[in-house]
Amino acid sequence: MPTSPWYQHSLDTVRELLCTCIGPKWGDAPEEKIREIRESRYTFGKRLCRKLDIQPTDTVLDFGSGCGFVSRAFCETARQVHCADLNPEFLAFTRDELSMFDNTSFHHISYASIQDLPDASIDKAVSTAVFIHFLYYDILFNLIELNRVLKPGAILYFDILDADAIDLHNPAAIKYHIEIYKDSVRGDGFLLQPFSSTALLKLAPQLGYEHIDTEHIGTGNSVAEITLRKVAQPDLPDWLAAKA
Ligand SMILES: C[S@@+](CC[C@H](N)C(=O)[O-])C[C@H]1O[C@@H](n2cnc3c(N)ncnc32)[C@H](O)[C@@H]1O
Repeated sequence: MPTSPWYQHSLDTVRELLCTCIGPKWGDAPEEKIREIRESRYTFGKRLCRKLDIQPTDTVLDFGSGCGFVSRAFCETARQVHCADLNPEFLAFTRDELSMFDNTSFHHISYASIQDLPDASIDKAVSTAVFIHFLYYDILFNLIELNRVLKPGAILYFDILDADAIDLHNPAAIKYHIEIYKDSVRGDGFLLQPFSSTALLKLAPQLGYEHIDTEHIGTGNSVAEITLRKVAQPDLPDWLAAKA
């Protein structure tokens, strides 16, 4: 499966789950800070509800929902929320985490295939801290599949670590990952994959998206929050349409 090997490991403990989901930011024992982590991600989710104008009539997809901490904000606001993740152990955690919401369903998906969801069924798709792991090819195949499930005019939000914004002389956002990567077997143990927002804005219109907004946040303003609108089907050449 062409995605980061991090997400195919068995995650035996809450500690491992949290370390995988949130990275090194909360230290070696994040399970001791789970309340703060939950609150912090929930607050981020509330901000996204405002930014994306999530309405009580909306059907929302949280793509790569992780522990469900961000999703909780959508569950409180939207008509229906679909949490989708590649990793069944994250989904099991999220199912418990969000068990009090009867408007929420959980989908164990395969790579770039949200097979449970019909075409044109989603008003807002949100993917936080997921595309930051993606290579160009992952972005391509996942944007094609997300286009399928979005209604015409629907909104897609995701964040990338913007290669255009990285400065090696002010490297806080990327230093940890570069250090890990240098000593790893290629591709094993690196978490973040910078991707250029310029390249993204060239790709998006070919895949049927109009650019709405880019907002830079985080350390050194290196995380680009990208908001797109689905305006058409992907315009794929024959060789790619046969693959997608
Ligand atoms: C860093 S966590 C982010 C979780 C959550 N969105 C948040 O912001 O707290 C990344 C999540 O994306 C999932 N993931 C990774 N690659 C994926 C893919 N290709 N498709 C769907 N989910 C993926 C992982 O299993 C994990 O749950």
